[in-house]
Amino acid sequence: TSPVVIAIDGPSGSGKSSVSKAVAARLGLAYLDTGAMYRAATVWSMETADLADAAAVTAAVGVMPLVMGLDPEAPGVELDGRDVAEVIRTTEVTTNVSKVASNLDVRAELKRLQRAIIDQESGPAAVQSGGRGIVAEGRDITTVVAPDADVRVLLIASEEARLRRRSLEVHGAADASAVEATKDQVLRRDQDDAKVTQFLVAADGVVTVDSSDLDFEQTVDAVLAVVAQVT
Ligand code: C5P
Repeated sequence: TSPVVIAIDGPSGSGKSSVSKAVAARLGLAYLDTGAMYRAATVWSMETADLADAAAVTAAVGVMPLVMGLDPEAPGVELDGRDVAEVIRTTEVTTNVSKVASNLDVRAELKRLQRAIIDQESGPAAVQSGGRGIVAEGRDITTVVAPDADVRVLLIASEEARLRRRSLEVHGAADASAVEATKDQVLRRDQDDAKVTQFLVAADGVVTVDSSDLDFEQTVDAVLAVVAQVT
């Protein structure tokens, strides 16, 4: 069978990263976290440019020494040989990432890198090396980066479920004050992101999976069911 490309988009806290990783692992596919690429671009821009200077940020991202690890069991992010997997998840980076992601030249450059990775994992080279394909997740994979993907899923969840999940992830708790502290990182960021990417409503041909009332395993199974239908 020829390699498969699975595109998964969704808002923050929808569970798309953990679900995408599990789907990739289950099917023996590579895994690409495009959000991690925007986060790495933010770290690199903070280190080598002035975030307020769009042209400087574009130039910085154009020479960013980024290497993405595609193993779903241990996806890596390296900048200039440095492991930045933890740095890219800090509050400071999360707060700044939407600004960098709203730069259309940055988006064009990251789309080019993402497309190259997807082609490498699904094209002739992959066929020759026995590669089975890739799961790529983010905000604009089903619409812009891989509208031609074999499987396209929009993973959504209620605002309440998304706040609770992100709060547990970041603070290890989901009481009122922890949830409140997560609001900027979830709701404000989604609002800013929605200005440049369309991930709140499914585009034509994209299957919506609502995980509000599903646990993790059920969500993975729901996505696997979509994959099974289409491939
Ligand atoms: O998914 P994650 O929360 O790691 O994404 C971080 C940020 O990267 C998002 O808030 C958004 O600004 C940006 N992003 C994007 N397009 C994608 C993936 C992420 O603009 N395909």
